[in-house]
Amino acid sequence: VAQLPEGYTCRPLQRGDYHNGFLDVLRVLTTVGDVTEQQWNDRYEWMSHRNDEYFLLCITDNAARVVGCGALIVERKFIHNLGLVGHIEDIAVSKDQQGKKLGLRIIQALDFVAEKVGCYKSILDCSEANEGFYVKCGFRRAGLEMAHYY
Ligand code: ACO
Repeated sequence: VAQLPEGYTCRPLQRGDYHNGFLDVLRVLTTVGDVTEQQWNDRYEWMSHRNDEYFLLCITDNAARVVGCGALIVERKFIHNLGLVGHIEDIAVSKDQQGKKLGLRIIQALDFVAEKVGCYKSILDCSEANEGFYVKCGFRRAGLEMAHYY
C-alpha cells in the first residue's frame, strides 16, 4: 500500500474545499468553468444527501491545500442479484504533485470504499495515455467507451 508523503492527508470532500483549491485540481483534468460559491454549496448539499452513493475524496498537502481528488459513484442495479457497481470518476492530481503516488493512493482509497459498501466491481473510462496508470492500480482493459454528447 502506498504511503502519503509526510503531512499529507486523504479525507472526504468538505464544503470549505471551495476555498482550498479543489476546483483548481480538477482543472488539470478538464474545463471546470466559473462555479460560484452558491452553486458549489448547492451541489455539495445535494451530494451530502446522497452520501451512500457519492464518495468524493481529496488529498491535502502539509499546507491543507487540495492537491488530488477522485470520486466513486455507487450504482444500484437489478442484475447480478441487485448488484452494486462502482464508477470511478474525475481522478486528478495537481501538475506539480504528480509522480508521488498520490493518484495511486486515491484509487486505493476509492477501491477500499467500493469493496466496503459491497460493489462487485469498479469501472472507469480513461484515455490510452492513462492506461498504464490504471494497470498499475490493478485495473485491466475491459470493453470500449462510447459517448453521445448533447
Ligand atoms: N502512464 C503510465 N504509467 C503511469 C502514468 C501514465 N500516464 N501516470 C502514472 N503512471 C505510473 C507511475 O509511474 C507509477 O508507477 P510506479 O509505481 O511504477 O512508480 C504509478 O503509475 C502510480 O503513479 P502516481 O504517482 O500515483 O500517479 P499521479 O499521482 O501522477 O496520478 C494521474 C496519475 C491521476 C493520471 C495524474 O497524472 C493526473 O492527474 N493527470 C491529469 C488528469 C487525468 O488525466 N486524470 C485521469 C482521468 S481518467 C478518470 O478520471 C477516470
